[in-house]
Amino acid sequence: MFVNVKNVTKKFLGVNVLDDVSFDINLGGRIAMMGPNGAGKTTLIRAILGFYHIDEGKIEVNGFDPIKDRVKVLPNISFIPQLPPPIKISLEEMISFITKSANISREMIFEESNKMDLNLKKNLHKQFFKLSGGMKQKLLIAIALSKKSSLLVFDEPTANLDPKAREHFYKLLEKLDEDCSTLFITHRLDEIKGLVNRQIYMDLGKVIEDEKI
Ligand SMILES: Nc1ncnc2c1ncn2[C@@H]1O[C@H](COP(=O)(O)OP(=O)(O)OP(=O)(O)O)[C@@H](O)[C@H]1O
Ligand SMILES: [Mg+2]
Repeated sequence: MFVNVKNVTKKFLGVNVLDDVSFDINLGGRIAMMGPNGAGKTTLIRAILGFYHIDEGKIEVNGFDPIKDRVKVLPNISFIPQLPPPIKISLEEMISFITKSANISREMIFEESNKMDLNLKKNLHKQFFKLSGGMKQKLLIAIALSKKSSLLVFDEPTANLDPKAREHFYKLLEKLDEDCSTLFITHRLDEIKGLVNRQIYMDLGKVIEDEKI
């Protein structure tokens, strides 16, 4: 998947949270995005997903506007937010909703959960928001990987995972299709170094470093 971000500025309360940001994601691009707290990383990926209106500039995903053409853009993206949403339905209901609304099979979600060491069957009756932080993260990862998207956008997906689960997760990523593009926000470059081919560093709403590795 191609993403083109051109001269994007986004203000919150009159302050530039994104300040004239430009960068592209190419087919098969594997990107680690880093930078201090408050740099604008989450805001940038949320803008790419069409969750925010931008004040200046242009964003295109496969040539489409992520807000106006969200129906064309979102089916090809798997996104894991920095904080799991407080979903107040059971895992059973959640999985049933997901398999009906997106092209994801129930078996696949169980398979991927299993690979992440999450016992889905045992927890189906539980409400999502009552899972532990790491279990939520595992389920979101399992769903994201079951979707077979051409772009994965993960906002610090391993923050709540124990070391074993983190290792599992990195192993799963190694098996992704060559054409699949990934954008991971992370504070642990050393851990994902083998999985990325480019690192982007943001600070104060700007991309201040963008290099191949
Ligand atoms: N919805 C919002 N309303 C007002 N200000 C916001 C909003 N979202 C983000 N901000 C501000 O934008 C700035 C950048 O936030 P952002 O979440 O993009 O940072 P980040 O780089 O992801 O940081 P972290 O590493 O802590 O996750 C911060 O100063 C934050 O307070
Ligand atoms: Mg963030």
